[in-house]
Amino acid sequence: MSFNALKEKGMPLEKQLRNWHQIVGKPYNKVEVDCYTRTRQILMNGIEVEGWGFKHQFNRYSPDTEVKGLIAQISRIEDSQQTTANWMGPADQSVLETTLGYEQVAVDLTAWMAQNEPDKYVKETFDFGLLEDFDHLYRYSQFAYMVEGIKPNEIVQGQTDVVIGRPTQHHHNCNSLRPRKHYDKATAHPQTKVNILTLVAGEQQTHNYYAEHGFMYGDHVLRETFAEIKDVEEEHVTMYESLIDPTESLYEKLLLHEFTEVCNYYTCMEDEVDERIKKTWELFLDMELGHLQLAADLFRKYEKRDPEEVIGTDIVIPCRFMSQKAYVQKVLEKEVDKRLGMNKDYTTIDELPEDWPSYAVQERANEISSPTENAIRLVSIYHDRDIVAADEKTKNKEVKILDKGLQEKALADNTVLPEELEEMIEEHEARKEEKEELI
Ligand SMILES: [Fe+2]
Ligand SMILES: [Fe+2]
Ligand SMILES: [Fe+2]
Ligand SMILES: [Fe+2]
Repeated sequence: MSFNALKEKGMPLEKQLRNWHQIVGKPYNKVEVDCYTRTRQILMNGIEVEGWGFKHQFNRYSPDTEVKGLIAQISRIEDSQQTTANWMGPADQSVLETTLGYEQVAVDLTAWMAQNEPDKYVKETFDFGLLEDFDHLYRYSQFAYMVEGIKPNEIVQGQTDVVIGRPTQHHHNCNSLRPRKHYDKATAHPQTKVNILTLVAGEQQTHNYYAEHGFMYGDHVLRETFAEIKDVEEEHVTMYESLIDPTESLYEKLLLHEFTEVCNYYTCMEDEVDERIKKTWELFLDMELGHLQLAADLFRKYEKRDPEEVIGTDIVIPCRFMSQKAYVQKVLEKEVDKRLGMNKDYTTIDELPEDWPSYAVQERANEISSPTENAIRLVSIYHDRDIVAADEKTKNKEVKILDKGLQEKALADNTVLPEELEEMIEEHEARKEEKEELI
């Protein structure tokens, strides 16, 4: 269905101030919530944090006092929307449960975008990042089981596979290799612009969540794991934000931020299965349409251009949450050995030069051990093997995937090698009946 956001008036800004009871609604029930309601809630929190943060940056760089006042009014509204979205999460949802939700967002969102991305190079970048978040979901799942007795399907509800990906110890790069080539603002499709901004917001919030919550556990290896994965999210923010054309003006960026919020709430509203939460998405869409009108007016006034040149005449769908197992499995089997090349491109392990700058980073970062490798070693004490949640066919490929994904050079000393994983799995199979009741 066609929907031209620029033709909608939306809610006027002066009507958008809400009272505390409206801002802080009732949280969802963590046992009953649909996993994709949770992913929408997590993503929209990230989108609002970015919308709020960008407006503060705007005001720090803008000399126009009249515009600053308007932007300040909108940023307060973004902040109140952030509270509503984030605080839909219930107090009894643990940090690790929420963390599994964050990585489910990353996997299923990136996979959706990769398949709906018109720019081939951007799509390749999405596929590359996808396999890293996929492995994070698996590593955190080991701790969720060990520390809190949570099985991954209690959170991902069978919609997302939990199995080894590109091993996290190899995600640490020389960060100067992460920046990509940026799109051209004059020719890039609005879908590309909205996809990237959505993903940047999601990855940034994932980074911030780990930064603010990873220390909340007593288990030292888990604390180190949060630190290790948080570092990868920092690389992801660096990678995805670099795809954006840096020559977009502040007003063009403001327009794109509001359009991205509109597109995401539009999708949330269409897809939401929880009637109560759907009403919030409807309300926020209306508010964002109001913001978009203001951003479009500023763009016309200061850039003397038509906003349609930037955002087109139709809505785009950046976040249709649905199971992406088949797609992710295909990318995993084909691309687990992919690495960052030297020229903002991609290569494979066997093509890496001897002096590949990321080797030095990995040797230093993992010099005593890689916490995410210890995750498997520790869980095998509880469960004989690693915790996985996937069908038998996928599980049977795990050792092969690990074999293809491990680099020989710069391996952490505590790396779980394919032969060891195979042994763990055999051990588990031999004692399966005895253990069945535990998992
Ligand atoms: Fe907003
Ligand atoms: Fe991640
Ligand atoms: Fe990520
Ligand atoms: Fe907004």
